[in-house]
Amino acid sequence: MTFPENLLAIRTISDDHILSFLNQSFQFKAKGADPAVGSILKGKTVLQFFTENSTRTKMSFEAAVRKLGGSSIGFAQQQSSLAKGETLKDTVQTIFQYGVDAVVVRNHSSGSPELFHKWLGVPIINAGDGQHEHPTQALLDAMTLIEHFTVHDKQRGKAPDPKILKGKLIYILGDVLHSRVARSNIHLLARLGADVVIGGPPTLLPKDLSLFPKITTEFQPDRVLRDVDAVMMLRVQYERQGAGYFPSKEEYRHFWGLTKDRIGLLKPEAAILHPGPINRGLEIDPEAAECPQSLILKQVENGVWMRMSVLAGILGSGGGKK
Ligand code: CP
Repeated sequence: MTFPENLLAIRTISDDHILSFLNQSFQFKAKGADPAVGSILKGKTVLQFFTENSTRTKMSFEAAVRKLGGSSIGFAQQQSSLAKGETLKDTVQTIFQYGVDAVVVRNHSSGSPELFHKWLGVPIINAGDGQHEHPTQALLDAMTLIEHFTVHDKQRGKAPDPKILKGKLIYILGDVLHSRVARSNIHLLARLGADVVIGGPPTLLPKDLSLFPKITTEFQPDRVLRDVDAVMMLRVQYERQGAGYFPSKEEYRHFWGLTKDRIGLLKPEAAILHPGPINRGLEIDPEAAECPQSLILKQVENGVWMRMSVLAGILGSGGGKK
């Protein structure tokens, strides 16, 4: 298996790196609490530098470091000197002096992980940068889909194989324009051979689709939901929107929400995903989020295995090989 030196974006890592992260995550999950895995990051310190809110990504990276035997330094923006006007660069260069082997960074500016790499020269893992990418979310989503199709394509008992995504129809529905999760997933799923369709209010889709690999659009969910193998719902990102992207919450739910009525359109084996946090009753009804086809909590669980795979690949012995 080969791993990159950083994980800044799905777009900038090779197919081999993607397959290595996926295959290693399945190995970790199969092994569970293995003492050899529990010492991979022995003596290594990871800075968890989050300046945007997070529950899933932050806590799963912390759990992953602990399961690999490493230590984390946390960062609380509101109690830091960033709040006194210190720059991002001065802040991270200061913390770096305490001894840091890698940085997991979430920040509102697209491209900030690249700056961190220039400033510090240690491995950087992008935990979500503005409207750009969220690569570990896409990797854990792919892991979850591969597991799901391995069971439903009567491959149960066989080792999960990323090739199972070839030809699968995945509908990414919602606020694509502001979604780093959608960007990373579009690139990753297309690279793994899935057929990706995006949809949502026309105002919330990117204007220039030529920037993405081979995707199609379907604005009306009811025309495609019967055929999909998985529907990936996106959070309406109010914090990145001005006013006026859609008329009202009621209309959004009516036209683009995965409502309790719409789940009846899905094939019985079609999967429902959402990266979380969810706006209940807006982009997804509680009945859809909690139905047997929903993999939302499986995504959360797989987040730890995938982040272990990313940290071990990049920082563990043999990591950083191109
Ligand atoms: N999916 C995701 O990134 O969730 P958090 O914002 O809670 O980390």
